[in-house]
This record gives sequence, C-alpha cells and structure tokens, in this order.
Amino acid sequence: MSLTGKVALVTGASSGIGHATARAFAEAGAKLVLTGQRPERLADLSARIPDSIYLPGNLADAGLPAELLRAALRKFGRLDIVFNNAGLNHDGTIEEIDIDAVCAMVRINVEANFRIAYTVLKHFRRVDEGHLINCSSVMGTKVRATAGAYSGTKYAVEALSEALRLELAGTGVRVSCVQPGLVTTELHRESKIPPAIERNIERPLRAEEVAALVRLIAEQPSHINIARLLLLPQDHRI
Ligand SMILES: NC(=O)c1ccc[n+]([C@@H]2O[C@H](COP(=O)([O-])OP(=O)(O)OC[C@H]3O[C@@H](n4cnc5c(N)ncnc54)[C@H](OP(=O)(O)O)[C@@H]3O)[C@@H](O)[C@H]2O)c1
Repeated sequence: MSLTGKVALVTGASSGIGHATARAFAEAGAKLVLTGQRPERLADLSARIPDSIYLPGNLADAGLPAELLRAALRKFGRLDIVFNNAGLNHDGTIEEIDIDAVCAMVRINVEANFRIAYTVLKHFRRVDEGHLINCSSVMGTKVRATAGAYSGTKYAVEALSEALRLELAGTGVRVSCVQPGLVTTELHRESKIPPAIERNIERPLRAEEVAALVRLIAEQPSHINIARLLLLPQDHRI
C-alpha cells in the first residue's frame, strides 16, 4: 500500500532512526510532521521534504503531543501514522549510574511515549482510522546487566503497545511495535566504549535499514498488522 496522501508524525526526527524513517515515509509519498529538540536539524530535513512541517520541542513538556496533533490537522487536515520514536539511553553500574539521568530517561521513554500514544489514539478512535508504531528495542524483550532501567522503559512500551493492540483489535486503528537491536546512531554518544566493540558486533544495523522496515509496517493494507517486529544484526548474541 502506498503512503501517498497519508500524513505521518515522526518524533525524534532530528537524528538516527526517526530522521531516516521520516525520509523513508516521504519517499513512500507521505506528508510529514517532524519533531525533535534541534530546530536546525528539523529545518534541514523539512527543506528536503516538500510536504512537511516541523515543530521543535521538548517531549518532557506535557502539552507538546496535543500541539503536534493540532499542527497536523491544521496543516494537512488529517493524521494517519505516528512513529512514536523519541528516546534516550542511560546505562551504568550501581556505582556510576546517575539516577537523575535515569529519571529523565523514564520521563521521555515512558511518560512522553504514553502521552503521545493516548493523545493520537483518542483522535484515531474518533475517526476510526490510524496507525501508531511504537519504537521499542530488543531491550524491550531482554535485559542486560547495567541496562535494566533502559530495558524497563522499553518493557513498559511493549506492555502498553500490546494492551492497546488488544483494546483496538477489530477497529480501524492499529498499534505496532518495532524492536531493533544495536543501531549506529547518536543514542550511545555518552558510552565510553562504542557498544558495537563492547558487544562484539561487527556490523550494527543502520538507521536506514530500520526505517525501511518501519515503512513496511506502515505500508501494510488495513487488514494486516505487523504487531511486533524484532530485527537484529546477524551477529548480535543477545
Ligand atoms: N540506536 C540503537 O541501538 C537503538 C536500538 C533499539 C531501539 N532504539 C530506540 O530508537 C529510538 C530512536 O533512537 P536513535 O537510536 O535514533 O537515537 P538518536 O539518534 O539519539 O535519536 C533520538 C531522538 O529522540 C529525540 N529526543 C530525545 N530526547 C527528547 C526530548 N526530551 N524531547 C524531544 N525529543 C527528544 C532526539 O531529539 P534531539 O536530539 O533533537 O534532542 C532525537 O531526535 C529510541 O527510542 C531508542 O531507544 C535505538
């Protein structure tokens, strides 16, 4: 199914998986609403996507999800697909972990993700049409020593996605969850040792490879829901 005429909101569009997915959706014919915290990045991406608008903001701001929905409806008159993707990573041993950074991560990965989900789903229910695609992780299915808090945020995304999918089964609204393994992005910019080296992964995923599969999820006809999609580097021993 082509995305021509569809309107997609992508959070975390200023870098990594969100940036690549916005481009993939645009290539498939979608109009885009882009958000992230860095306006220059969003302006640059929006300039390359003819039918797009961008609205920078911090998703810790509880009012942003409703603003994004309003912006989509004002500009394009509809919203069809939401890639609920913005996220942070903070890992560490008991000795080195920064609990404030953990709580800031929970705020974005869980609270902001849930706010986006419920805000757009209330709209999707009203029009009985729409597709919410949540970005989880392989870490939403497994844990690793020192990464329990990050895993916990992704387990939360998994739980909500699955419950929403069940609640909405048989309606015109779909909820999917994508679970990437290690992807080369800015997510791990604070890691002392690059995660690919630490975990002995020769060829991590590229953001464009994840984006192609998110596009595939969005392109399914309305009677098909790819509810969960786990994609891993072939040598990711997890
Ligand atoms: N990279 C991986 O290995 C991997 C694997 C599995 C799942 N994931 C998930 O994929 C998603 C995207 O991550 P990525 O790898 O593409 O990392 P990334 O390149 O760091 O991108 C993260 C995006 O989230 C946005 N964001 C972060 N905090 C925000 C806030 N407070 N308000 C608004 N936007 C905020 C960032 O915007 P600004 O930078 O402009 O603040 C950025 O656009 C995350 O949910 C992550 O958990 C990543």
